Amino acid sequence: MCGIVGYTGRRQAAPILLEGLKKLEYRGYDSAGVAVLDGNALQVMKRAGSVENLSAAQAFAGSVGIGHTRWATHGAPTKENAHPHIFGRIALVHNGIIENMKALKEECLARGEKFVSETDSEVIAHLLEGYYEGDILAALKKTAARLTGSFALAVLCTEEPRKIALARRSSPLVVGRAEDGIYLASDIPAIAAKGMTIYALEEKEFALLGEGEAHFYGEDGREIEKKPLEYSIEEDVPEKRGFRHFMRKEMSEIPQSIANTQQIMHAYPQISALREVLCHAEYLHIVACGTAYHSGLCAKVAFEALARIPVEVTVASEYRYRDPIIRKNTLIVAVSQSGETADTLAAAELAKRSGATLVAVTNVRYSSLARLADFVLFTAAGREIAVAATKSFNAQLVLLYALAEELARAKGRGACGAELLSLPALAEEALSASEGVRAWTPHFLSAKSVFFLGRGADYCAALEGSLKLKEISYLPSEGYPAGELKHGTLALIEEGTPVVAILTSSRLAEKTMNAVHETYARGAKVFLVTSLPEYCKRREIVSSVLLPDCGEIFSPALSVIPLQALAYYVSVARGCDPDKPRNLAKSVTVE
Ligand code: F6R
Repeated sequence: MCGIVGYTGRRQAAPILLEGLKKLEYRGYDSAGVAVLDGNALQVMKRAGSVENLSAAQAFAGSVGIGHTRWATHGAPTKENAHPHIFGRIALVHNGIIENMKALKEECLARGEKFVSETDSEVIAHLLEGYYEGDILAALKKTAARLTGSFALAVLCTEEPRKIALARRSSPLVVGRAEDGIYLASDIPAIAAKGMTIYALEEKEFALLGEGEAHFYGEDGREIEKKPLEYSIEEDVPEKRGFRHFMRKEMSEIPQSIANTQQIMHAYPQISALREVLCHAEYLHIVACGTAYHSGLCAKVAFEALARIPVEVTVASEYRYRDPIIRKNTLIVAVSQSGETADTLAAAELAKRSGATLVAVTNVRYSSLARLADFVLFTAAGREIAVAATKSFNAQLVLLYALAEELARAKGRGACGAELLSLPALAEEALSASEGVRAWTPHFLSAKSVFFLGRGADYCAALEGSLKLKEISYLPSEGYPAGELKHGTLALIEEGTPVVAILTSSRLAEKTMNAVHETYARGAKVFLVTSLPEYCKRREIVSSVLLPDCGEIFSPALSVIPLQALAYYVSVARGCDPDKPRNLAKSVTVE
């Protein structure tokens, strides 16, 4: 949610800012802006839309600057609301939400100050200007103490033109020290280069950058020594490799992501300590958001079937405000591709504070979640650029299934490793079979609503299929338990309504088919994703995708693939951009 970048050093700042912002666009692409200091002269450019619209800022002279790419929270995605926000001697970029902005703004208005945007961020520039007495870090500390909410802030001041002051509360911020200057960004890949030393700001810390140095300060204002992160530049440089969109390319990487994740899990260095914790675990809470939440739901099926312990899966934004019952021997598993989702972090912190052991399942090695956790299990899916999660979901599933097996073993129950090991090859088959959904797209293009139905693990996959379709094709859709349809939702089925049934369990197949009949009888066009060939030719079915069988419990790892493909093809056919769906961002660092 919003990306920020900055530089102070010997090079020209503008090209560095623009390149960093391009790499941060997955965090928001509503509007963008940069501010560059050339001596005391501040040059600012802001534009609605993507970072590309800032290309004229390349010409800005000056070797100190900050930049921002926005995902709008307060105020429309206009040029006026774009960052940096300027007031007096101050320019700042902000990622987060200021919850007490109304009161603070009234205070500034009462002093006769004028506001030019509708954002919550602009008020921070006003406070800074008010507190500034020749020391930008001191002004930032005073300002931060007045703010309620979340923020990563980078601040320039025309009176201290070589410096950038930083503050962090909840929203991520990293600093890179290189031979040619000091860099900052919302995430590491935006600035990482060979030979750079990277530091992460932790909760409530501050930093002052300039003159080749980075100084860090704790909440109490004292300077602190920071340990650099052991980061090596990713070999996986995100390129489309001949695919039209990142999403499609990332789907093609699902088998590899699964295989790499399995390898990481097999070589997990803390496995004996983890096993010890698993032995004593009596309750399992899974917290996550969006797609990661769906992976938690799918995993619950596996945890309960294999390990027979009670599992609660809760959307993190609900968990954090619910006063959950966290008993002794509760294990909390927080699942997050980015490891930066604000609600997931808050839920994980809450559980940890209450005495639970925290296991993080994340795709980003140095994420805030990884740094918070007692145990970190990495999904080795590689960078995921498309906003809609695909390969990271399959990798999360595989990792959670492996954890379920470990837990089952710890509880003295049998395991089924062989089925899991065959998943990469089966995912390859599922990918080829999924091309069949391309022919389904005409039936979906102008649907009023779409339904995804299943039971058990198939229902969990249905939820994810529905979310994918909604987010990248903007079609209203619902994932529904097949047996629940007749309790109200059936009223929405009309002539031609597309229904996608997921059917991978022979135990439940006929039961799900009851729902299929009920929709078919009311004019629905039913499409089938199944591993049971005998259902493909049923007269109710318009078309089907036949998947390899990987067992009922693990089936979402495969059955989601044609659903991801369906969302992709419908999105493209409707003229949407599947990589950058409207109103969304990949890393949701605000609550
Ligand atoms: C949907 C999607 C989102 C994320 C959610 C959580 O395709 O990507 O629903 O799953 O925002 O993000 P992470 O996993 O980074 O915590």
